[in-house]
Amino acid sequence: MSFENPSTGALKADHISKAFGGLKVFNDVSFTLQPGGLLGVIGPNGAGKTTMINIISGRLRLSSGEVTLGGTRVDGRPVYENTSRGLVRSFQQTATFHGYTIEDNLLSALRFSKSDLSILERLMPLLDQFGLKANWGRNAEILPYGLQKMLGLTMALAARPKMLLLDEPAAGLEKSERDNIDTYVRFAREEFGCGVLLVEHDMELIKRLCPSIIVLDGGRLIAEGAPAEVLSYPHVINAYLGGADENEEDADAQHS
Ligand SMILES: Nc1ncnc2c1ncn2[C@@H]1O[C@H](COP(=O)(O)OP(=O)(O)OP(=O)(O)O)[C@@H](O)[C@H]1O
Ligand SMILES: [Mg+2]
Repeated sequence: MSFENPSTGALKADHISKAFGGLKVFNDVSFTLQPGGLLGVIGPNGAGKTTMINIISGRLRLSSGEVTLGGTRVDGRPVYENTSRGLVRSFQQTATFHGYTIEDNLLSALRFSKSDLSILERLMPLLDQFGLKANWGRNAEILPYGLQKMLGLTMALAARPKMLLLDEPAAGLEKSERDNIDTYVRFAREEFGCGVLLVEHDMELIKRLCPSIIVLDGGRLIAEGAPAEVLSYPHVINAYLGGADENEEDADAQHS
């Protein structure tokens, strides 16, 4: 089966580099996410994962290289333009509108993405399962964090994405709530045919969901392949241990 139709094409990062002043947060990173595919992205804190999502979604400009969706350049384009192209991101922290109910938040997501009300019908199984339907008229900011997070993720789906960029969807969730992320990703892929770029620190979730992953460290792509294999590479283990050592030093410094 070929996917030459630009509206359903692959997401490609081609030799992307990004520097903030003298600080290189990306150095020559390339990868491809096939339409409907699922690619995990891992790496220690500060590896550049959120920056990568900011670049792909159009929030930040590249220093060099390019990102394309179905052959159309998307880096450096306005976020609203990429959203209407089907490139939709979620946020590491929650990003719902305070002072507004769950319903208001979802309706605002519909307006922003020019979706119609029928999308809510399609999302109903998720809204029900996550407990959002049961809290329909309550203000988003008084909801437990887990519910706010699932609301933000469901709002991303309301934009009818072709490619979802998820920035640590499981972060801050209780262990018992993390199955919701499995449900969400499966739903996005099966019901919307979405491709998913999944940035995550939860390795169990990564291993459960992702057939393949890339590993970033210091803005470089240091490994790619099946999670079980990649996570056993000594240089990948070292990348994480390096971060842990620093944290230990920080902790020691604070105690001394
Ligand atoms: N606007 C900015 N200006 C300068 N430096 C930045 C900016 N945004 C990010 N950085 C730097 O880029 C690097 C990558 O940050 P980024 O937030 O992308 O990491 P991350 O992999 O998402 O980390 P985490 O796992 O903690 O979320 C860090 O060194 C960060 O300090
Ligand atoms: Mg991040």
